[in-house]
Amino acid sequence: MELDEAIKKRKSTRSFSDKKPDWRDIIECIDAARYAPMAGDIYSLKIILVDEKEKIKKLADASQQDFIAEAHYVVVFCSNPSMTLNAYGERGEMYLKQQAGAAIQNFLLKIEEKGLATCWIGYFVDRIVKEILKIPEDIEVEAFFPVGYESKVIGGKKQKKRKIDIDNILYFNKYKNKKMNPQKTIYT
Ligand SMILES: Cc1cc2nc3c(=O)[nH]c(=O)nc-3n(C[C@H](O)[C@H](O)[C@H](O)COP(=O)(O)O)c2cc1C
Repeated sequence: MELDEAIKKRKSTRSFSDKKPDWRDIIECIDAARYAPMAGDIYSLKIILVDEKEKIKKLADASQQDFIAEAHYVVVFCSNPSMTLNAYGERGEMYLKQQAGAAIQNFLLKIEEKGLATCWIGYFVDRIVKEILKIPEDIEVEAFFPVGYESKVIGGKKQKKRKIDIDNILYFNKYKNKKMNPQKTIYT
């Protein structure tokens, strides 16, 4: 799959089929997270692959989102903040979130390439998630991802992708300026 196709086709899935993905495919998706940029090249992420049904059910409860329990796997992204905070102080807090996002996007694109499906789960009770997975107090839970195959609704309509228009997000040279400076065309 071309990168452009993976970027544009990726979407959140909130209904999973019974078909169980090959765990090796999921490890490949997790592996893609290793290639994300990290401030000072300090790798802050720790990732937990959960395949125990009762733990997955508890994670669904901890986020009050029942569809998570349909998935055979959940991938949990955590940050170990200590080295980044030691190196960058307060600014390190922001770096930790940014680099978690970069690593997660790698993971999501690989999920798309593999024909798997997932949904970013950012709403959960941290304390309960930590209890379920025995995550130490000083480790931050960034987000988690139920992974499976999308359940196809027979006769159901394909959901249309609604994405923001580039005109609404792009400025040139200063905030709110929507006009680009004239560009020189080079003829060869
Ligand atoms: C930081 C973050 C937190 C999110 N948390 C949740 C969540 O708890 N539950 C959920 O169903 N979707 C969650 N989402 C998914 C968004 O709702 C979804 O990405 C958005 O509606 C756009 O749809 P798309 O992913 O299909 O492009 C989250 C996404 C992000 C980036």
